[in-house]
Amino acid sequence: MWWLWLILSLIFIKLYNKSVCGWCYARNIMTGKVVIVTGANAGIGFETAFNMARRGAKVYLACRDDARGAKAVEEIVSRTGNKHVIYKHLDLASLNSVRSFVEDIKKAEYRVDVLINNAGMTGYGLKKTEDGIVTEMQVNHFGHFLLTVLLVPLLKKSDDARVVVVASTLHRFGSIDFKTINKEATWKIPYYGAIRLYSTSKLCNVLFSNELARRLEGTTVTVNSLHPGHVRTSIYKNLDRVTETIMNFLLSTFFKSAVEGAQTSIYLAAADDLTGMTGRFFEECKEARMSVKAEDEELAEKLWNYSAELVKLKPEEAI
Ligand SMILES: *[C@@H]1O[C@H](CO)[C@@H](O)[C@H](O)[C@H]1NC(C)=O
Repeated sequence: MWWLWLILSLIFIKLYNKSVCGWCYARNIMTGKVVIVTGANAGIGFETAFNMARRGAKVYLACRDDARGAKAVEEIVSRTGNKHVIYKHLDLASLNSVRSFVEDIKKAEYRVDVLINNAGMTGYGLKKTEDGIVTEMQVNHFGHFLLTVLLVPLLKKSDDARVVVVASTLHRFGSIDFKTINKEATWKIPYYGAIRLYSTSKLCNVLFSNELARRLEGTTVTVNSLHPGHVRTSIYKNLDRVTETIMNFLLSTFFKSAVEGAQTSIYLAAADDLTGMTGRFFEECKEARMSVKAEDEELAEKLWNYSAELVKLKPEEAI
């Protein structure tokens, strides 16, 4: 009978997890709004972009892979009927790519209403990029730092602009030491090092979000970070049907689907009851606590200065 209890427990856990999963009920139409989503070709990013397109927004899918980007656009256009969905190449592991992306946006748009910093990577990013930055750090933080700062003038032209930073609750395990943060050797220990690197990049996301919010206080731009939840990915594609069904059930018990994982991003981008909400952290479409380290204002300012120097931000671009 043990297996009966096991199945009942799993069903209970699944129902419980579904019941606490936050859902964005805002039905706002976003026609005329310009939205940029990084890493929008798959997973949470795709679902977020899809939702923005369904609300009528003009959506830029900023991703690295041309073929996958084009395919995502095609799918979103055909499912929503919204033709204002555009793929634009953005490789966050290249500061040049970030700069030329922003140049293109400036040529095409007078303003940007929503920027969703969604792209993220983990697991392989120890090697340095062409810019001499640890790849995972650049994709998750430094590239987004440059992208966001360069887009601020366009965001300020919107009367309700939002920067949405997809971080993680794992930011709690991050720690920042500026002497070692950009050295590959710091992160070399397998497994433990990989988690620490990811967590640190996510701590950078939250600190950046808070510092940007402070710097933009009194403007029309709000900045918030979030934890999407633990989302399942399709790492188990090559199994037989029965195993796959069982794996799907188990994974869906403990992990969220991409649509569920996108809800807090969608909420922060679309909901109209966020007036004055800035520099906060969200989880399940509700405000949540960030770690004490993430609230450290001096650390946030230091990280800002360090990032500005590392990405060679020009004095006239500073905010
Ligand atoms: C950051 O840089 C500014 C301008 O150079 C400087 O005034 C400030 O003290 C720096 N902040 C920290 C925490 O180092």
